[in-house]
Amino acid sequence: MKLNLNGNINRIYVQSLCMIFYHGVKFPEGDENTDGLELTVTLTQNENTVHCTALLTADNNMADTVSTDSFSDKESEDRTNKIVVGQAVYNVCSEMTGRTSGYGILTGIRPSKVTAELLSFHSEEETLSILTDRYLVSKEKAELCITVAKNETEILRETDDSRCSVYISIPFCPSRCNYCSFISFAGKKLFSLIPDYVKRLCEDIRETFSLIEECGLSVSCIYIGGGTPTVLEPNQLEYMLSTVAQCVDVTKLEEYTLEGGRPDTITEEKLRIAKELGITRISVNPQTLNDFVLEKIGRRHTVEEFLKAYEKVKACGIKNVNTDLIAGLDGDTVDSFKKTIDSIIALDPDNITVHSFSVKNASQIRVDDKDIYIKGFSEARDSVEYSIDRLCKNGYIPYYMYRQKNTVDNLENVGYAKKGSFGLYNVYMMSDAHTVFGIGAGATTKLVKHINGKAEIKRIFSYKYPYEYLKEKRSADKTVREFFERR
Ligand SMILES: C[S@@+](CC[C@H](N)C(=O)[O-])C[C@H]1O[C@@H](n2cnc3c(N)ncnc32)[C@H](O)[C@@H]1O
Ligand code: SF4
Repeated sequence: MKLNLNGNINRIYVQSLCMIFYHGVKFPEGDENTDGLELTVTLTQNENTVHCTALLTADNNMADTVSTDSFSDKESEDRTNKIVVGQAVYNVCSEMTGRTSGYGILTGIRPSKVTAELLSFHSEEETLSILTDRYLVSKEKAELCITVAKNETEILRETDDSRCSVYISIPFCPSRCNYCSFISFAGKKLFSLIPDYVKRLCEDIRETFSLIEECGLSVSCIYIGGGTPTVLEPNQLEYMLSTVAQCVDVTKLEEYTLEGGRPDTITEEKLRIAKELGITRISVNPQTLNDFVLEKIGRRHTVEEFLKAYEKVKACGIKNVNTDLIAGLDGDTVDSFKKTIDSIIALDPDNITVHSFSVKNASQIRVDDKDIYIKGFSEARDSVEYSIDRLCKNGYIPYYMYRQKNTVDNLENVGYAKKGSFGLYNVYMMSDAHTVFGIGAGATTKLVKHINGKAEIKRIFSYKYPYEYLKEKRSADKTVREFFERR
């Protein structure tokens, strides 16, 4: 698409809006027009008002639109300009393609963050109309954003700069699912790294907890994620969890999660160890309760195996159980996803996280099928709509949400929980509320402190791959100390 932008317009923002309607479209620099699409956007403003025109041509078709607004003290000029540009670009693309997007001109990963900001200045009713009228968000999505924003704000009230969370990474999986792009390792050769990996991880766990103590922080949540942490042998799991228990009083944590994930790695022995060593939240993920779809996505377990693992998890005494689902998977239909949702609700987990299928460039399914993004479009939209309706009607409260790039129909991921079972780490991690220490290959540390209410953030990246992580030790202690000394 050839882009002609006149005035103070953010090019990246216009590109992200166009990509909602023209997935995968490229924006060559200069005068090149390789796909017959050309968009001209012009922004003009005077003292009180801003005015934007957009003209889109696609081969022999043409659409144009105008958007205007007045500046107000409740909003910065930049924000008003962005909204007006957003409306013009959205409307012209929508007119040309005949399509809409539930999130209107909100292209960012956290629509609930924008909503929370609005709620801090406006009533709920005003926020709803700002989202629908100005941000062009559908009423259903606007209501969802408001509920999530209120719950997130409530959760975030409980934390401050004196607290932190810890993420421990186990980047190994029993096999590779074809929709996934996580850097995780499957296969015998790579599994041979696990004993050394666990040993090194435990050294880093000890060092990180003593650094946390030295910096005067208290630990809110620990999240052991992956990959598939339950891929560890019982003795390895026990060693890792005992190491954590030697470093911190696990009974005082707000939440201690073990991401089991793959049902085919969960055993009664591992669950007993997890429970005894303080785990309070666990995930066991079917993604779908349709065997045909499980096979298509290369998940290498059956619905039956999930149900057996789920039963064991429920019986083991860990009080908060989460199940992850994905809407819009290859081969899934609205009817089959409805069955998945209804069956999951019948199983009564405390948390249900509904992801929307996101086409990851590094996933096998993307390599095998270039058109995969378009395939599940309408199925995904109706599936997600059904999940919102059924889950809310069955006592599940949406408490956190985020969006990912290249998600079918630009949809969202939402965490639902029963009252009192919100997954706190998810909310802390997604916001800039407090520091998160990442331990292990692929884990990122995010240092956070607030100065005059504004978050100062520093990210420290670990080695991506286990073999790099094992080869060389990279200490971030000095950076961490310096960051907190200047508090
Ligand atoms: C970090 S992954 C690990 C979970 C665990 N290994 C498992 O597979 O059950 C967390 C969740 O992200 C979701 N997910 C992974 N890839 C996805 C994709 N391409 N699109 C949408 N959701 C995805 C899945 O629901 C998955 O359970
Ligand atoms: S979805 Fe989970 S089990 Fe499958 S490859 Fe990704 S991280 Fe591993």
